[in-house]
Parts: sequence; structure tokens; C-alpha cells
Amino acid sequence: MLHDATLVEIDAAYGTHEQLAGCGPTTAMCTPIHAGQLVTTEQLEYLSEVERNSVKSDRDSRDSRDSTPDKGSSVTETPGQNRDSRDKSGLHPHFELLETAQGARAPGNYWRDVVRDKAGQVTGMATPEWICSPLRVTALTRDAQNGEWGRLLEFSDGDGREHRWTCPQSLHAGNGDELRGILLREGLTITANPRLRRMVGDFIQGERPEVRARCVTRTGWHGNVFALPRETIGDSELEPVLFQAATIDGVTLGQGGTHAGWIENVARPCQGNSRLVLAVSMGFAAPCIGLLQAEGGGVHLRGASSTGKSTALALAASVYGYPESYAMSWRATDNGLEGSAAMHSDLLLVLDEIGQLEPRHAGQVAYLLANGQGKSRSHRDGSPRAIATWRVMFLSAGEVGLSELVTQAGGKVRAGQEVRVIDIPADPNVGLGLFESVPSDITAGAFADALKLSAARHYGHALPAFLHALVRDPGKARETLSKMREALAGKLAPDNTAGQVRRVADRFALIAAAGELATAYGLTGWQTGEAEKAAEVCFQAWLDSRGTVGNAEPAAILAQVRGFLEANGEARFTPWDAMENTPRTINRAGFRKQTDDGPIYYIERECFRFEVCKGFDYTAVERTLADAGALALGSGNEKTRGERLPDARCVRVYVIKPTLWEGI
Ligand SMILES: Nc1ncnc2c1ncn2[C@@H]1O[C@H](COP(=O)(O)OP(=O)(O)OP(=O)(O)O)[C@@H](O)[C@H]1O
Ligand SMILES: [Mg+2]
Repeated sequence: MLHDATLVEIDAAYGTHEQLAGCGPTTAMCTPIHAGQLVTTEQLEYLSEVERNSVKSDRDSRDSRDSTPDKGSSVTETPGQNRDSRDKSGLHPHFELLETAQGARAPGNYWRDVVRDKAGQVTGMATPEWICSPLRVTALTRDAQNGEWGRLLEFSDGDGREHRWTCPQSLHAGNGDELRGILLREGLTITANPRLRRMVGDFIQGERPEVRARCVTRTGWHGNVFALPRETIGDSELEPVLFQAATIDGVTLGQGGTHAGWIENVARPCQGNSRLVLAVSMGFAAPCIGLLQAEGGGVHLRGASSTGKSTALALAASVYGYPESYAMSWRATDNGLEGSAAMHSDLLLVLDEIGQLEPRHAGQVAYLLANGQGKSRSHRDGSPRAIATWRVMFLSAGEVGLSELVTQAGGKVRAGQEVRVIDIPADPNVGLGLFESVPSDITAGAFADALKLSAARHYGHALPAFLHALVRDPGKARETLSKMREALAGKLAPDNTAGQVRRVADRFALIAAAGELATAYGLTGWQTGEAEKAAEVCFQAWLDSRGTVGNAEPAAILAQVRGFLEANGEARFTPWDAMENTPRTINRAGFRKQTDDGPIYYIERECFRFEVCKGFDYTAVERTLADAGALALGSGNEKTRGERLPDARCVRVYVIKPTLWEGI
């Protein structure tokens, strides 16, 4: 909100000034509300006189920003000490807000001290000193327990974009550096003068807007309103609700291009590609889990490099903001996972490159994210700290699955983890990587690049549009979503389905229902049923790769593995006891050890997954081999074994036994 050129006096000593109803700042020449703070007409005239003089002096507007009063003629008092400084003249130090440039004065908040004579009597007002670009304090906030006080700050950045940040009062506890750092990052300009820049904090603290709001520390639904870091969508029946945090950098929502451009160039081209439609639908589903009190959890796209996984993630992220900023890496969450989750409550957390996650954290992470509660911690004195809570849906990608990471670290995969992070093969096996349908005139790679580019041009419009549609009638949205979700879950998992499968079916059904609702609101440009179809295909892919082999016939799998070893056993597997002078193995796939029963093959993991299993989901291949007794399992029944290979590496490899050739 920008306002007319206005000079507003802000009384630093008494801390009140005229405040309009609502969150807006003062917009007229100030007439302070308390009798004791009235500025008389004479004083105003006097101030104008000083003003004119200061302009007449040889200072230009730039100098006046950082000017310090003439040492000989003024005494600078710090705010807070000024109560006694109000002497007979009635003049007192105060802050002034100039909304737009006035004469030589730049817009901004000014500190205006008094000038005293040698006897300490106030003789006039000092030249206004610029402390920062226009900054307004428009509401006082506190949480439902009347703690966590804060203030809503409003200001514009260098591009004239309005920023709103609910700044916790606790940030004033230190020297103010952290507070100013955040304001500067957000685009407020602050003087470099050390004495004056400290006054930014004084100004904020001194303000007493009449408007009160409830602050919340978790994004998402709070009653029928949806709190985002910079705005709250919907009208609360009681007090306004505002998201308050010591930083708003954690969630990088933002907008670029247009919603129509996004529909045309990002959403529509996804049609016919189940993974892409699912990913975008998840962007809409995240706010729906709170609405339906559903379970949090994630979907993980697992597949080979350069198949389009990050592209799918970028499309989902473009529902929220600039994809490269909004999507995060798993690695970044190692330390800040709880914080990221709390900042993304009821929002989609997009996490790429699961391979960079510390394997030993992998198992806990799935639970932590999906369960919605941080670890309990205590203050130094042992009293419990408030536990961070959240409700997130996350979309992740990587070349390995979560279960593999867990076993890599020697852990055991629990069924609960697999249900919380639904691991689906990124590649639907039609020879186009992650895609199923690519425009006829371009290659799959070029299609991926074009989608990424479009998502970086048009982004961030779909989420607010969806939220605005939801808050119009949350009850009705809830009812529509529940009905759609129930119907689809019933279709995916009939009554006799096992509990775990049913839970996963429920998640897919919710994602589909959210996608369909967004389509019904006119936000995707998809045909009705597109999101539902995508969820069905992905659910089936999950079921297939889950080990109930499904489409992938066991016989075909065994035949493929045998075929690979027969064709490459001699050329690409180094004999276990190879001599120094044995010719080098080109493009090695592993090692082979000759035994009386036949050769044992030690296959490197990457080769196994991407070459031996080509065309099949490798987990299905693992299971089929294990069921056939052809795979030597690890000590904890893992599908890979840790082995010291002849080249002295200790690594996990697939060990194929000669039994692979039995019974044929
Ligand atoms: N389906 C595909 N077929 C062929 N090439 C593709 C396909 N998808 C993406 N690519 C190419 O791979 C590049 C990287 O795409 P993207 O980042 O989506 O892959 P990725 O699956 O995330 O790979 P990585 O696992 O290495 O991160 C693209 O710029 C594109 O050229
Ligand atoms: Mg990638």
C-alpha cells in the first residue's frame, strides 16, 4: 500500500500516533490522538520554518539522509530518554514518516531531534535525519496463548513491491543486527550511519498500532483462513491471522508471468503424462490434507539420471513459485528439516536428489516429515520447548529409493516408511524416460527442457488462485474433495485390500481429487478426469514395483538376467582370481568367481539397475531373483551384500548364484 505524500509525526517518547482503523497507516497530516501529544499550529509553523531553513542550507537530499546534527547546536537524545526532554517549548524528539519525496527530502522515516542552547533549553528542532525508506507498523500480534508478541511491518522494496512481515518482538532482544539484516534482505533501505540505523528498532518498538492480530508460527489452515508467510487468504471471523517467524526466507513463494501462460505452457502440455500430472496435482493436494484432516506423507519418483525427474519437480514447484527457488534439495534438509517442514505446513515440500541425503537419516526423515511433529527438546533449564508441528505433503526424486538408502546404512526398511514415502518408478517404460506422451515434433529431452523453461517463466499463480477458491466456501470444498476421494480410493483399493495398500490408495485418491477440483475451478486447463487417470496409472506402477511383480512376468525377468550374464559374463566380468597380466576388462559390470556348481556373479549396483534390469523395475527384479533363490542375500536379508572385491573395494553388490540356471 503506498500513500500520498504525507508528513506524519511519530512520537518516539510516548509511542502513539494516529492510526486508522484497519491495517493501514496514517494517511493525513498527523493529529495525534492524545491531548498531551497534540502539535499546535505554532509548532507546525515552526517545524516548517526549520524545514525550509534546512532545505536552504547547502545539504542536498542525500546528505540529509545521513546527516548528523551540528555538534555545536544540538544534543541528540536517544528515544526512550525523551520523556524528560519535553520542555516548556513543547518541542520533543520524534520520528516522522514521509511517504513520498517532499522538496529535497527523500521519502522515508526520519528522526527529528531537538536543538538545545548551552543551558539545556530547547531552542528548536534539528534537521530531520533519514533512517530508512518508508516503514509502517500496522498491527500488534500475539499468539493464542497471548505470547510470542510481534508487529506487522509494511514497506516497499526498490521495485515498489509491497512487503509485509510479522516481526517477532524477540528479535529486538539483541543488538538489532539480525532484525535489520532481514529488513535489508527484504528490500528496505536503511542508513549506514551506526547511530541512526539503530533507531529502526526503536521506531518499530515505539509504535502502538491499535489493530490487533493473532500470530501463528505454522503456515496453512487456521480455522477457515490459510496463512502464507506474506499474506493470509480468507477472512477470519475473529481477529486477523498472521504468519510470524524470525525469517520468511524459508518459503520462497513468488509469482512470474501469468496464470493463463502457466496453463497454456506448463499445465496443458502435461496431459497424458501420468507422473507430470500427478506432480502438479500434488501442488494442489498439499493444502487439501489440512482441509480433510488427512495424513501427511510423500511420493518419491525413482529413476535413472536424465529421465525428467527434476523436470516433474519443477512443474510441481511452479504451482507455488519460481521452481529453482521453491524446490529444495534433500541435502539442505539434513539440519533444517523440522524448520522447513513447519514453514511448509499445508504446502508442498519439493525435495530433489534423495541420493544426497545421509543414508543414516533416511529412515527417520520419512517418519519425521510424515508424522507432523518435531523432536521434543527442552530449554537449558530442562523445561520443555514447544514442539514444532506441521502437516506436509512432499514430492521427492532421486536415482535411488528411500528403502535403498535405509539399507545402505545398514538399517531395516519398515513397512511404515514405505507407506509414508510412496516410491514410484519414474519411468513408465515406454521409451520416453518419465514421459508417456511427447509432442510429435520434438524429442523427450527437448520436451523436458521446454517444460522447465516455461515453468521458469510462468509460476506462482495457481496456488493463491486455488486457495482463494477454497476459502470462498471451505465446507463445500471439503465435501466435494471427500466425496471424490472416497470414490476413487474405493476404485483403487477394493474392500478386501490390505491396510498398507489402502493407505497408499487413499493418498493417491486425495491427490487426484485435489487435481480434479483445481480443474473444476478452471485452474489447470486439463480435461476432467486427467488427474484421476494419472493417479490410477501411478498407483498401478507403485503396486507393480512393490514386488507383487504385476506386469513384469517373473519368467521374463529371469530370462533377461540370464541372457545378460550369458552374453557378457566372459567379456565384462573380471575373473575373481585374475592375474596381474590378465587383459583388462573393458566396461566392467562386476566380477565372477568360478565354483564347482558354476559361476557366481558379483554385479555392481548401477550396472544391475540400469543394464541388467533394463525395462523392468529393479525392485521387481530383485524380488524375483530372491524368490527364485538365485540372489545371495545380505546378513539382514538385504538384496545386496557388502563384499570386499578383488580390487580391494568394499562395496555392496548383487551376488547372483548359479541356481539361476537351475530347472531350465
Ligand atoms: N525423458 C527424457 N528423455 C531424454 N532426455 C531427457 C528426458 N528428460 C530429461 N532429459 C534430459 O535430461 C536433462 C535433465 O533433465 P532432468 O533434470 O529432469 O533429469 P533428472 O531425471 O532429474 O536427472 P538427474 O537424475 O541426473 O537429476 C534435460 O535437460 C534433458 O535434456
Ligand atoms: Mg534431477
